[in-house]
Amino acid sequence: MTIIFARWLFDGEKILQNLGIAFDTRIVETGSFEILETRYPEADIVELSEREVLLPGLVNPHVHLEFGANTTHLRYGDFIAWLESVITHRDELIDACHAACYKRQIEEMLHTGTTCFGAVSSYGKELKACRAAPQRVVYFNEAIGSRPAAVDALYSDFMQRLEASEKAASDRFVPAVAIHAPYSVHPVLMKKILHETEGKPLTAHFMESPAEKMWLREGRGAFRLFFETYLGQSRPVCDPETFLEMLEGRETLLTHAVQADETLLDRIAAAGHSIIHCPRSNRLLGCGRLAIETVGEKGIPWLLGTDGLSSNTSLNLWEEMRAALMLHHLAPLDLFALDLLRAATSRAADALGLPVGRIVPGNHADLVTVELPDTPENRETLPLQTILHTRKIDRLYIGGKRHV
Ligand code: BEZ
Ligand code: FE2
Repeated sequence: MTIIFARWLFDGEKILQNLGIAFDTRIVETGSFEILETRYPEADIVELSEREVLLPGLVNPHVHLEFGANTTHLRYGDFIAWLESVITHRDELIDACHAACYKRQIEEMLHTGTTCFGAVSSYGKELKACRAAPQRVVYFNEAIGSRPAAVDALYSDFMQRLEASEKAASDRFVPAVAIHAPYSVHPVLMKKILHETEGKPLTAHFMESPAEKMWLREGRGAFRLFFETYLGQSRPVCDPETFLEMLEGRETLLTHAVQADETLLDRIAAAGHSIIHCPRSNRLLGCGRLAIETVGEKGIPWLLGTDGLSSNTSLNLWEEMRAALMLHHLAPLDLFALDLLRAATSRAADALGLPVGRIVPGNHADLVTVELPDTPENRETLPLQTILHTRKIDRLYIGGKRHV
């Protein structure tokens, strides 16, 4: 048993002061330090200072480790230009990312406080690294391919990858499913996969770029030339409404949704989906700003993801939070900072269906501590100050085991 006595604590919902947390692999009890110390006299005691904050470990639900070798290869500013540069450099980038490259990304997440991540896997190359990761991993095997002739081959490749990941299942490794996007997965393939994988966590990129919106809505724009050139297609395989209809009954983590209009957001809300917001990726790929205030008003849970190093410069969720603070410049600062902490902890955990992200008895003891440069003034300003000043974390526990 360990007891951490925290002067400042974010429990996944709100800021608290002067609280003790007793845990082994799970959180056992929270309460006054004196009571916990008396009840568990054998416990190791960690007493945090006035400058330290205890939080649930962060949850990053959307990362592509397979593209971790990218630094300066790809073209930014426009989604189609980026996609074409990905196609040009794909083999080179995928071949360049081996065990050390996966490990570096996993370590970066660890040292910046991410205790759980959702790895979107197109090829299955990073399975071994994810199994060996200290973090909890939701491993999203991704299906991609819109050509009708390829459906059977793609389905069998997907099932092989899914089965390989199922062999690794544990309480720290959850096999799951990703449908790449409405424009890139043939509905027949999508239906087969959804049918076969009921009950597994599900994610999909959705309405990311203006080009995607124009292609899916009107069959025109830059995506048309792309599809004609690379795939010999002159019409989209799906529209956004049909895509959401196919997801009915299956709560899905929809990534981006920057270009979803209010009608689509209403459908997303009614279906119980969540939205993974990736502000830096959206900016670099020319996708626009997610109307996060509208998403919030409609009661859609939004989470925060870094996306992969193919559309970002780090997998550090604190940097992602700082980017979100700057991007959504009209949001009331202190309240928005508190909401960002919730997005990166409890809301992401709820969307993934994992008992983490909140410091409550029964949850896994996935915890981090950060040290601020000085004593924070009060509860209201603590979230913003924590986001502004955290570069890396000081201590990190996963399932009660200390890793940092
Ligand atoms: C496709 O297979 O249809 C596809 C793959 C990647 C991007 C766009 C489309
Ligand atoms: Fe992505």
